[in-house]
Amino acid sequence: METKDQVIHQADQKLQQEFNQWAQAGRGDEMEDHHSDITEQAIALMNLQPSDRVLDLGCGTGWASRRLARIATGGDIVGIDVADEMLRRAEQASAGTKNVRYIWGSAENIPSQDNFFTKVLSVESFYYYANQGKALDEVRRVLAPGGRLFILINLYRDNPYSLRWVTELKVPVQALSEAEYITLLQQHGFEQVEARRIPDRSPSPEEYSGKWFKNAAELKDFKRIGALLLIGSKPV
Ligand SMILES: C[S@@+](CC[C@H](N)C(=O)[O-])C[C@H]1O[C@@H](n2cnc3c(N)ncnc32)[C@H](O)[C@@H]1O
Repeated sequence: METKDQVIHQADQKLQQEFNQWAQAGRGDEMEDHHSDITEQAIALMNLQPSDRVLDLGCGTGWASRRLARIATGGDIVGIDVADEMLRRAEQASAGTKNVRYIWGSAENIPSQDNFFTKVLSVESFYYYANQGKALDEVRRVLAPGGRLFILINLYRDNPYSLRWVTELKVPVQALSEAEYITLLQQHGFEQVEARRIPDRSPSPEEYSGKWFKNAAELKDFKRIGALLLIGSKPV
């Protein structure tokens, strides 16, 4: 029988393989366009201070890490990702940014000392974690007392369009509801837990020719329903 750690390790290897392929196909950079508007709104809610130490969990090519670094100018921004090809691109793109660094690792085993970060942001990554409870325990461990967590996800049960991805993606994903996520964060020791909907205000095409939506009206409706932003604090 496999132990919990072996199951997580195998899941991470699969995620690494898949997202290395995404990076090689240029999909890491494309995600900046897709997630930019909702991420800007989440960052605005983070009330970032110049000295903040921020973890960007599942940072991909690091575009959000660099935006955080431009605000927390005297702080320390750390992007962590399980896909080394994503991180290679993140490092290349961040050559001129002093207060950002990237570390390879898994959300379920975060390579950081305890109580270090003042804030954690995770964009479109949390639903890939094989053991979301373990990831939340890890985030709570690395957050300083009073530190705040911001999880932004487009795939969740209350946005029916996003459930189309569940069977199409090549790696397993979790599709919890907003209510289930609130309970999960509370069960894993987060306080002041709240959920917000973040509509995607980026311009939509008049014609849609991709594979996820039947037509442009469906895409607009998906964006209107918006992403789910989960917020929680580590107790002081
Ligand atoms: C859809 S991409 C989003 C990347 C980036 N946050 C963005 O918005 O462009 C998901 C990212 O999460 C990373 N990821 C998935 N599971 C992970 C895990 N268990 N630990 C760390 N990173 C993970 C993937 O490697 C990938 O880079």
